[in-house]
Amino acid sequence: MRFGHFDDERREYVIDRPDTPLPWINYLGTEAYFGIISNTAGGYSFYRDARLRRLTRYRYNNAPFDFGGRYLYLRDPGTGEFWSPTWQPTQPELDEYECRHGMSYTQIASSYRNIRARVSYFVPLGETLEVWRLRLTNERAEAAELSVFSSVEFCLWDAQDDATNFQRNFSTGQVEVVDGVIYHKTEYRERRDHFAYFACSEPLAGFDTARESFLGPYRSWDRPIAVERGSSSDSVAHGWQPHGSHHVRIALQPGETREIGFVLGYWENPRDAKFDPPGSQTINKHMVRPVIARWLRQDTVDEGFRALREHWDNLLGGLQVSTPDGETDRMVNIWNAYQNMVTFNMSRSTSFYESGIGRGMGFRDSNQDLLGFVHMIPERAKERILDIAATQLATGGAYHQYQPLTKRGNNDIGSGFNDDPLWLILGVAAYLKETGDTSILEALVPYDNDPGTEQPLYDHLQRSLRYTLDRLGPHGLPLIGRADWNDCLNLNCFSETPGEPFQTTENATGGVAESVFIAGQFVLAARELAGIAALVGRPGQEYLDAAEKMSGTIAEHGWDGAWFRRAYDFHGNVVGSASNDEGQIFIEPQGMCVMGGVGVEDGTAATALASVRERLATPHGIILQQPAYSSYRVELGEISSYPPGYKENAGIFCHTNPWLMIAEAIVGNGDAAFDYYKRINPAAREAISEVHRCEPYVYAQMIAGRDAPTHGEAKNSWLTGTAAWNYAAITQWILGIRPELTGLRVAPVIPADWPGFTAVRRFRGATYRIEVRRGDERSLTVDGVAVSPDAVLPLAQAGTDVEVILTVS
Ligand code: BGC
Repeated sequence: MRFGHFDDERREYVIDRPDTPLPWINYLGTEAYFGIISNTAGGYSFYRDARLRRLTRYRYNNAPFDFGGRYLYLRDPGTGEFWSPTWQPTQPELDEYECRHGMSYTQIASSYRNIRARVSYFVPLGETLEVWRLRLTNERAEAAELSVFSSVEFCLWDAQDDATNFQRNFSTGQVEVVDGVIYHKTEYRERRDHFAYFACSEPLAGFDTARESFLGPYRSWDRPIAVERGSSSDSVAHGWQPHGSHHVRIALQPGETREIGFVLGYWENPRDAKFDPPGSQTINKHMVRPVIARWLRQDTVDEGFRALREHWDNLLGGLQVSTPDGETDRMVNIWNAYQNMVTFNMSRSTSFYESGIGRGMGFRDSNQDLLGFVHMIPERAKERILDIAATQLATGGAYHQYQPLTKRGNNDIGSGFNDDPLWLILGVAAYLKETGDTSILEALVPYDNDPGTEQPLYDHLQRSLRYTLDRLGPHGLPLIGRADWNDCLNLNCFSETPGEPFQTTENATGGVAESVFIAGQFVLAARELAGIAALVGRPGQEYLDAAEKMSGTIAEHGWDGAWFRRAYDFHGNVVGSASNDEGQIFIEPQGMCVMGGVGVEDGTAATALASVRERLATPHGIILQQPAYSSYRVELGEISSYPPGYKENAGIFCHTNPWLMIAEAIVGNGDAAFDYYKRINPAAREAISEVHRCEPYVYAQMIAGRDAPTHGEAKNSWLTGTAAWNYAAITQWILGIRPELTGLRVAPVIPADWPGFTAVRRFRGATYRIEVRRGDERSLTVDGVAVSPDAVLPLAQAGTDVEVILTVS
């Protein structure tokens, strides 16, 4: 069952009923000011950091799930009836409803009692504000008088504090209304140089800035007293809950259309600004007023919207493909690339499943997100790499997360996830492959943001490898620390007295548990670093030797006979082996070892992949491990705390699936690689939206596994490494358009029944027009000249077009 359809022409997903199984959301903003917005206008906004600079309030885990947002009300004074044109929060029986989620904008349109409404929301490029544009048409035979009310609830900046520290915060709220603009200027402790504003293009009939005055005591947003009554009370909040609401009265002749603009924004005073009078924020208002005036004008909004569309045309123009499979094209050309931008910006901080409070930028997560983003805006990828590297510790280890606003390692979670440092090598390798910009390796970057500790980025990469080599366990495999990629495999939680954990997940760093996954990741990273060394004329043989040695250790202690083992626990017991009663085979080492090249020559890789097909593959994707753990095991930690079939305990953890697609491509099995790709492709799952439940236009982190009663149900959409890795799997390995250190390679491993495909790829300033076709013999021509089909394409002059024809048999 579908709840909408794709409009590929306009690059939109069109939702045709408001009550989707879960909120189907979109993101506003691409640079500094961001918001999440649902198909019924739910969600919130923030500046740079969803925790520390939250503009509007949102209550998570609410009922209904999606409640609180950028709401508008229309009221007909003739009947006293009022409704929300975006369905929430009044939930009217709309005659028509349509939500179009596009590239960084959302439009929600509806019709009720012959009043047609369309609200467009977007963040103009380069601005720290969002525009709401309401377009109203009177389709009645007679004139219509209407009241329009807006509503946002302000957050007192630090969302964590806002949600908990009421004894203080009920006394701190401050607002000011000047010339119809509502300024929210509550100070967050020491800060005195920023505020939010909410403005409307029309003369106001009234306003409210105190939530209680707008809603009325004992009421919620479904029937605010001001709307019911048809008049605001011009309330000014003193403490309690600052709120923003405008009231506008309009009259529409039959057939007449009117537009009303709203602007919600953030303003930060320049550091050296002088206040006049001292202590006031008057100067800010002088500075922000022209900005507000500009964005309340329709021509500016039209122009801003056009610029946003052009921006996305340009970004998506980096790679466009035309394959025999429409759902592949749709994801590669539009939605997967779009999701990559969102994961790059948000890491794992802000969605309807990530609170914006709990998690900042993940060290491992952000490095992986680069894989899908770097070709779009390499300069931002570079900046991100340098930010991440600056949080690395002098030991080569890493804070697991850092806060986007401060860019400092986050002590809440700390360090000790032993896979983290190796991801930095893979992130930097992706940047170098895309850009060829080796100067990044010389960039001076501190450790732990400590001035005076600056070293070239290359030194950081060396320390990343060294970190693993300095921490090998009894079998010569890397120590896992608190966990590796699988956060929930906490193998150093052991108990001296059965039933009583001596170590917990939080302090599980000291043990001797080892990870075969990190071993595979090490082989991959060491080979990448050797390639980078060769590129810049540095010695790299020791990295190759270390990779070789680690491969040997994997063969000796990490191979189980038909697949790669997962780990050894604190007691030296094997995890992910046929000798285990549960958790016999895990997906992660099969993918990572084969990606590192382990077992590809001697055939063990192919054996491992056959085991995955036999034991882990389901029609909804590949399960993380089998058999699921049926009870909690202290020696395994959190993984065994999930019910069977969910999350890391035998869920389909989608992030890992593309590793298997890549592995299948590496061993030359295009049918299997593409088959896995289709199983979790959200567009291909659109028709089963009642089962999948999450948005059909973006990947979700998890689909419930076959042990779960809800097998096939997705959760945690949007912010997942699944986006970047799937993009890499389909574009670089299945379609085979692969940036390498020395240039672009075209090496497709496509399904046997595909006649070929075409693609346009921007690479290092040149445009490659690629055609892959079938023929009797493999051949490659570049601008009509035959070259070896195994060659990397010769680097072309920036600004030129290159015609590439590859014939595969
Ligand atoms: C985290 C990843 C982690 C994955 C598997 C996700 O929630 O963001 O860093 O690799 O879970 O545990």
